[in-house]
Amino acid sequence: MTAHAQPMHLADLLADPLAQFRAWFAAAGEGGVRTPEAMALATATPWGVPSARMVLLKGADERGFSFFSNHLSRKGGELDENPRAALLFHWDELGRQIRIEGSVARLPAGESDAYYRSRPPGSRIGAIASPQSRPVVSRDWLESRVAEVAAAVGEGEPERPEHWGGYVLRPAAYQFWQHRSDRLHDCFRYLAVDASGGWSIERLGP
Ligand SMILES: Cc1cc2nc3c(=O)[nH]c(=O)nc-3n(C[C@H](O)[C@H](O)[C@H](O)COP(=O)(O)O)c2cc1C
Repeated sequence: MTAHAQPMHLADLLADPLAQFRAWFAAAGEGGVRTPEAMALATATPWGVPSARMVLLKGADERGFSFFSNHLSRKGGELDENPRAALLFHWDELGRQIRIEGSVARLPAGESDAYYRSRPPGSRIGAIASPQSRPVVSRDWLESRVAEVAAAVGEGEPERPEHWGGYVLRPAAYQFWQHRSDRLHDCFRYLAVDASGGWSIERLGP
């Protein structure tokens, strides 16, 4: 029986939404989801013009949900000017969706350095070379830019460029949604109630 065949009740939910997220994330990995860490990240301009793209979750802890990107990208610019975002996971194999909303800050430089160093050489070079989100004249230009950076790095270790690093989204709200075959899907919302780390939980109409 697949996980989504089990009805959900408020009493089944863990009081801490991070623990609930971890339980569902682990179930997604065990349940055959190929890339459970792939998530949609929605940002917006200060005027409320939205944009969304996929990124990879690289950490989920008491501080929040972290991911890495180019600070000069479209998302990077939007987060600089409007540091609020939403994350969305959809695990079709389990009939589950998780939505997370909150404020975003950059990770400390030391953590970005550590993650950058852990990446394969090609990814490190690419992070230096690629003007993410901006027009490039051709594929050839991009490849020669990568070759230029690789030649400059030579046998040395590429250093993390200033324009690339991590972000952490500190959740203020979560939503856990689970498919039910009668279409009356289960949906629960957690809201941060105060700075002490408490959460309210309520069922929402699907
Ligand atoms: C599954 C998947 C995972 C991705 N992970 C990342 C990521 O972790 N960081 C990133 O900067 N871009 C990632 N991308 C590329 C982004 O979706 C996007 O094309 C790029 O970051 C530029 O987005 P922007 O112009 O909105 O800033 C990923 C794409 C896919 C399809």
